[in-house]
Amino acid sequence: MAPKRFEKLASNKPEYKELRTAVFERLRNPRMDVSQATYQYMPLLAGDAGDPRDGDPLKWMSLLPTQYIHMWHWAQGEFEADWDPVKGGKPPKPTSVQEEPHALVRAALEACVGGPFYPGIEMTYIAQQQDTWAGPFRVNETYLAGDLSKRMAVPWQADSFECNTHWWPAQHPDDVYPEAHYNALVRSAAGSPVTDTVQSADRVLWHRGVGHQVSYEPQLKRDPGDTEEQHNAKVAERWRLIRAKSGDHDMVEQWHKLGFVVPRAVAGRRVLIESERSVHVGLSDREWFYTLQHPDRFPEQVEASRDYVRKVLADARAAQLHPKAPLTRRPFTYSRKNLDARLDLIYKTQAQEADAYDPVSEPTFRTRQAVVERVRQMAPFNLLDGVWLRNVTPAKPIDDVHSLLFSIWKDEVGDGNPALNHSNLYQNLLEKLGIFLPPVDSEEFADHPDLLDSAYTVAAFELAISSHSEEFFPNSSG
Ligand SMILES: [Fe+2]
Repeated sequence: MAPKRFEKLASNKPEYKELRTAVFERLRNPRMDVSQATYQYMPLLAGDAGDPRDGDPLKWMSLLPTQYIHMWHWAQGEFEADWDPVKGGKPPKPTSVQEEPHALVRAALEACVGGPFYPGIEMTYIAQQQDTWAGPFRVNETYLAGDLSKRMAVPWQADSFECNTHWWPAQHPDDVYPEAHYNALVRSAAGSPVTDTVQSADRVLWHRGVGHQVSYEPQLKRDPGDTEEQHNAKVAERWRLIRAKSGDHDMVEQWHKLGFVVPRAVAGRRVLIESERSVHVGLSDREWFYTLQHPDRFPEQVEASRDYVRKVLADARAAQLHPKAPLTRRPFTYSRKNLDARLDLIYKTQAQEADAYDPVSEPTFRTRQAVVERVRQMAPFNLLDGVWLRNVTPAKPIDDVHSLLFSIWKDEVGDGNPALNHSNLYQNLLEKLGIFLPPVDSEEFADHPDLLDSAYTVAAFELAISSHSEEFFPNSSG
């Protein structure tokens, strides 16, 4: 809400009564009115009977009668106008020691959503049962630790990920204004008021990047009697489910790294900014691709990319042990003889594959259009061809392995001849096919709608591992 409007709503002056009343009339009354069981009324939340449906009052949340009456008094202007635009409302202060326990309970409860109670967020449907309570805000002593929350969604992180917009309005922001954007805006505004801009500026998803992890094909035992097709269909269905729920699973790992929305006082105003979000979470391959090409501007991402590389390498090690992993990728005990044997095997396998390749029986690239599309999707990878080697050789006396890798890098960049630079060659190919992309290090390139998310994956990893070439030297040379 624009700060000016908020100021008017915080005032009890008669000239703003119409404005206050307009807000009050948007509140769904607690009388279970069928005509108000729609998206037109607030709160825009599900009710105790589940997901919202027009015309069913039980499926929409409303204020409690007492709260509704408070809001009516507010609309009439019958309130103390003590809202502080920077600090917000005044916290209640206990005036005696006896009041302190109640103040502590109130402090905890004030941040709660309350209803809806099925399955519930802080508490479930037992909140509405008389025997849950021994008195106001006092739980019956027969309840043991864990009893209040044990009927709720497990894990709650998955529930919050799936049911964000109409179940988790206060604890769980939907979209936010990130601190880094805000700081950049403050810098560019250079002292001029920025608060109005913040309200309307581009916002981003709070849980951005959650659920982007790779999910592998599940290994299912074939049920007796199943044909190959039936078994494959089961595997495909299970895999589809794993992918569909990947955000739920990822949220369990990532929730504590996501940001907090906190008020900031700027130029006498209160603005809500997402802060304390870990840079270790939520970067998509597109973002890695962009930020790691600008290490001077995104030093935190460069630092965080160590963990990203470690995670990919750990996944790679797990994939090597996968029963379906080809022999050429399985681990082996090093000896000169074993290494030669492995290299020989890789060479022979590749040579055989190349010999056996017949474009006529090629299943995927049947048409020119399909081939051109493939060329487009390979652009992020090939326009940074060889980037994994970009920092491989430091300027100091070096050994044979560093020299060997440098000679590959030299070849990738054309050895001083732009016409032989692999990225240039690929750019020429793209342009000959009528594919004109923005500069590879621009934000527009990283966000390009014609390119798939997965088109950035390998290049993003190469940028990450080459940001720490010495640390991951064995992996790079391997
Ligand atoms: Fe190359």
